[in-house]
Amino acid sequence: MKKTILASITLAVFAMTSQTAMANDDINAKKIFSKNCKMCHSLTKKKFGPAFKDMNKDSKILLTTITDGRKSMPSFKKKLSSDEIAAMVSFVQAQKVVNPCAK
Ligand code: HEC
Repeated sequence: MKKTILASITLAVFAMTSQTAMANDDINAKKIFSKNCKMCHSLTKKKFGPAFKDMNKDSKILLTTITDGRKSMPSFKKKLSSDEIAAMVSFVQAQKVVNPCAK
């Protein structure tokens, strides 16, 4: 029951924020990445966690993982706003093609 409620909240939050995140792509995803993710993730190479370019690109999986964490991946729901998390989802999705400028 608790899980269902959490899942609906997560989805609702995502529905509300995904559009703003698209329109506002550089909410400063890069800065958030450097501050919060870089110690474990690289954009292009496997570090402690997987490279952003190799990650799953499904919005729901990305959102849930960043929001609630998974195994050694910490939860960011207390550290980042839902807008920021949504921006990170787009940011990960944008790493599909290797960007030579993003090192
Ligand atoms: C303490 C180290 C650490 C930090 C900090 C961290 N991650 Fe992770 N992350 C991991 C690990 C380890 C995994 C692999 C989890 C697993 O094995 O399921 C992971 C997995 C993920 C996944 C799932 C990838 C997939 O293909 O399903 C996403 C998305 C992700 N991280 C995003 C982020 C973002 C965005 C940040 C910064 C806001 C961040 N991580 C910060 C360690 C970290």
